[in-house]
Parts: sequence; C-alpha cells; structure tokens
Amino acid sequence: MILWNDRLVPRSEAKVDIEDRGYQFGDGVYEVIRVYGGRTFYLQEHLLRLEKCAREIGLPLPWDVSQLAERINQLVEANQLREGTVYLQVTRGAAPRNHAFPESVQPVLIAYTSEAPRPVAMLKDGIRTCTLEDIRWLRCDIKSLNLLGAVLAKQEALERGCKEAILVRNGSVTEGSSSNVFIVKNDTLYTHPANNLILHGITRAIILKCAEEAGIPVKEETFSVDSLYNADEVFITGTTVEVCPVTQVDDRKIGSGTPGPLTRRLQQAFDEQIARQCGCSAEMSGL
Ligand code: PDD
Repeated sequence: MILWNDRLVPRSEAKVDIEDRGYQFGDGVYEVIRVYGGRTFYLQEHLLRLEKCAREIGLPLPWDVSQLAERINQLVEANQLREGTVYLQVTRGAAPRNHAFPESVQPVLIAYTSEAPRPVAMLKDGIRTCTLEDIRWLRCDIKSLNLLGAVLAKQEALERGCKEAILVRNGSVTEGSSSNVFIVKNDTLYTHPANNLILHGITRAIILKCAEEAGIPVKEETFSVDSLYNADEVFITGTTVEVCPVTQVDDRKIGSGTPGPLTRRLQQAFDEQIARQCGCSAEMSGL
C-alpha cells in the first residue's frame, strides 16, 4: 500500500500525471524516515523539516504535521514494515508546463515503504570516500527533489570504488552527497554549521545532542580538506547510513585506518536512541 494524497491505496492505483511539476522541474520536497522494529524514528522532526522546506519554496502543505504523522504510521502498519524506510514527497502538483507557479493547483503527496536492514557491515568496518567539488545550488538546506548534483557526485564516488562523496566548496568541506560529515581532532567534534550550504540533517542534530550529553566538545565550524585528511576520526551521518565511520578519504587513511573510539561512542549513543524510541536493541539488528 502507498499513501497517495489523503488515501492509502495499492501502488498500482496511484497515477502520476506527466505534467506533475516534481517530474518536470523537481518542484517539490521530500523526506526519508527510518523505521526500526516497526516504529518510526524521529518522525516528528522529519515532518517539521518537510513543512519548513515546503514553506521555503512557497508550497504550503494542506496537511499538518500531526495528520501526516498519523498517516505515515498507518502506512507503516498497513505494510507491516519492521526494518526499513518511508519515502515521502510532495510536489507542487500537476499543471500545463510553465516555470512560474500555476494559479490553482493541488500539491501531490506520495509516500511508500521499503524494507531495508541496518547497514551492519558499513557501521562495523567503515567506508572509503572521495572528495569532489560541491557543484550544487546555494539552498542545500532545502530538501528539494532537485538532486542532480548529489546524483552525479554519488555516481562518481561509486565509480572510484567509494561509498560516499565528500563535497568541497571553496576549499571547505560541506557535507556528503547524501549525508552530513563530522571530523574529530584532539577530542573535539567538528561539523559544518547548519546554514544554506548543507542539509540540516536530523541524524546530525541527534549526534550533536548525544555529544553534548556525553560532554564531548563540539564546534559547528567549517574545516578544510587538509583538516579532513589529518583528522583523528571521520564519520558521516544520515537516516540510512546512521553514524558510519569513514576510514579513508581519497588516497589517505584516516587515523589508524579503522573506526575511532569517539565514533564508536557516538554509534553506541545513537543505538540507545533507537532502543529508547523504537524499543529494539543493537543486538536485534545484528550489530
Ligand atoms: N539523505 N545531507 C544530504 C545532502 C542528504 O541528502 C541527507 C539525507 C543528509 C542527512 O540527513 P538526515 O540525517 O536527516 O537523513 C545530509 C537522504 C537519506 C536521502 O536523500 O536518501
């Protein structure tokens, strides 16, 4: 079953118009929400971000956060999803093709679930990454459907044998193609400030909170590619990658080339969040 505007319907029943503005212009916003043990994780925060991003592009949602939350939970229930994700997008709607906003148009919402286990191997062993120029637009804080910059970066990374591209704008590390980037230097955590150049990740915010609670000093500051290469530890965060150690950037090994102690501590703190919100332990996920 999928959620199509106000209704749960079989996937085959939902029809996307060829003049939907999401399809033609990438004119819409989206969210990816994790489900652990049959329960949504930080759903409220994702929906608040959706609402904010929609407002930023002049697309007021005809549903409020509590209505959306109720429907997303119904969708998860209807599909009996235990481990996986919910993909949710809202476009400005369907209208004759013209760049300007149409006069009267109804937004189109689609949400569906996918099964996905936790990325156990990546979380245990870490990943290789490469740096690439950040060629995206200047409103990366909006989770818009326009993902071509991210798509091209991810593809280039995969072709170089890496799992993620770390993007660099004017010599500063911004974020990953679909994740936020953290480094550890002398026991302090650094990550790019939450401004227009990065997505304000929900996982990023969870980790900042966990770090604060654990008494780990945090600096939301820009840092250079050299600082990335010479960091004691590097990790990325995101709804699907969770808190994933980075053991290599380009041809440089990070630290000893294995996940570092602070990354491990924050992974553990993140697992505790999952246990608290969704009632499932790390062991249950094979970690
Ligand atoms: N991506 N930065 C970018 C560019 C992202 O696309 C994402 C998430 C993140 C992490 O945000 P969060 O912690 O809220 O998931 C950071 C999603 C998962 C995607 O596009 O599939």
